[in-house]
Amino acid sequence: MSLAIDVGTYDFDGDDPLFTQIADNLRDKGWSVIPNALPEHLSEQLHQQLLSASAQEFVPAGVGRAVDYTLNRFVRRDAIAWIEGDTNAEQQWLQWSNRLRLFLNRRLFLGLFSFESHFSHYPSGAFYKKHVDAFKGNPLKDSTNRVLSIVAYFNPSWQPEDGGELAMFHEEEVDPFLCVTPAYGTLVVFLSEEFPHEVRAANRDRFSIAGWYRVNNSINQQIDPPR
Ligand code: OGA
Ligand code: MN
Repeated sequence: MSLAIDVGTYDFDGDDPLFTQIADNLRDKGWSVIPNALPEHLSEQLHQQLLSASAQEFVPAGVGRAVDYTLNRFVRRDAIAWIEGDTNAEQQWLQWSNRLRLFLNRRLFLGLFSFESHFSHYPSGAFYKKHVDAFKGNPLKDSTNRVLSIVAYFNPSWQPEDGGELAMFHEEEVDPFLCVTPAYGTLVVFLSEEFPHEVRAANRDRFSIAGWYRVNNSINQQIDPPR
């Protein structure tokens, strides 16, 4: 008699040690910062796209869903371009982030359902004041449903004096517990509700991708909009 065991359709891929580290970090402390994390070919393709992107493709970033331009300029000065999968680089990025999503769902049972992300360009002097990516409390009131935030950087030979750190805070604490240098290939992943953070002004152009994994919030036949 033979015993058939269904081991599922798990495919090993080259990202496994990285994904495992991210999952372990999230489980242990709720955040993960990994230098040189993104697969090199992926960083290169995205970086190439950023170098060739014209400034018109970036639009001033909004805050929340109602955009008041003056308030907005006070809070953040970056320009963004949503990633929709229009180029090969964008498709590679979406595939990679989807593999991470499936991995984290298997490991941590997060139930991550969808993903949205954009390029950010912080021109010299631009910042993003301390904020959270999702609010605690009733998820039906928080229309973003963001659970997990991810940030990747595309800034070769970034020097400490260039500034532009991502400062991460524990709730209610004034001093950051971590300041991340936005160096090429560095990846930051954290629970969206748990960690207020800010982008400090840099004195050169600063490029990143910011993305969010969301849970599904469709209720009563109303389709939850992607953003
Ligand atoms: C954001 C954000 C961080 C960064 O876009 O919400 O916090 O380092 N970005 O670009
Ligand atoms: Mn943020």
